[in-house]
Amino acid sequence: MKKQLIAVLSLCLAGALMSAAARAEVVKTYDGWKLYNSYCYLCHGSDGKGGGPLAKSLKLNPADLTSNERLGKRSDRDLLLLIQGNSPHGKLKDMPQWGRVMPEPQIQALVSYLRFLHRSRHPLVGNPEQGRELYGRYCVACHGADGKGHGVMTNVLPIKPIDHTDAVKMDAMDNRRLSNIILYGDAKEDYMPAWEGFLSKPEVDSLVSYLRMLSHSK
Ligand code: HEC
Ligand code: HEC
Repeated sequence: MKKQLIAVLSLCLAGALMSAAARAEVVKTYDGWKLYNSYCYLCHGSDGKGGGPLAKSLKLNPADLTSNERLGKRSDRDLLLLIQGNSPHGKLKDMPQWGRVMPEPQIQALVSYLRFLHRSRHPLVGNPEQGRELYGRYCVACHGADGKGHGVMTNVLPIKPIDHTDAVKMDAMDNRRLSNIILYGDAKEDYMPAWEGFLSKPEVDSLVSYLRMLSHSK
């Protein structure tokens, strides 16, 4: 089957399934990204390196949250307690105690996002919010809402999409390779549609950034 034709079929199927609410998958890293960009970037900066708009008015420099020297030493539990303001090693100076205003699941989502900042080897190129929306509309039919590759179409076509939550496999591909596969399909595999002409370059970038979050969300 031609890849472009598969793209058309996927669009139709996606339309039919849209109302099925297959899109409400919880992706911790994504939720953390949203929270981070509402509350944390002010001091830590949107890239996590500590240069946010409020940083200059603090006595202490906000921590560089991408630094392996810092994050590498902390367990997820340590990070959770530090963010909550309940660390046994004492309260951080100039760092709000988020446990007072944020429930634990939200703080866990933030920890996932900090791990993403710390571990992902590829820059975020697009807008993950738009990426999530597009993924829900066009990709879940085959890749599944959780990205593991068990979408509805895998029951009716001889296909086995890659697990998008597998960080090792996904990190092995750079952003350019992912966007090329989305635009032109996969040379080895007939059933990954070519989205060129259906999706713009910025939309494909956004999909790539959402894929990065899916792959670091365990
Ligand atoms: C008002 C500024 C401010 C805001 C807003 C802020 N932080 Fe901080 N944060 C700091 C400062 C300053 C430090 C460094 C404290 C120190 O070294 O004692 C810090 C340290 C941290 C650390 C400790 C890093 C380590 O391993 O030592 C973590 C984790 C952290 N912040 C996460 C967050 C998260 C998540 C948010 C958003 C929910 C956030 N911060 C919002 C100022 C801020
Ligand atoms: C008709 C089914 C189908 C749809 C719809 C679909 N894919 Fe795929 N996709 C596949 C299959 C099958 C593979 C496996 C190709 C392979 O193993 O190389 C794949 C592979 C991929 C890969 C490459 C991973 C690898 O194997 O190297 C990426 C990235 C990807 N898809 C992203 C997307 C995105 C983003 C969308 C939505 C815009 C999407 N796919 C929609 C079937 C689909």
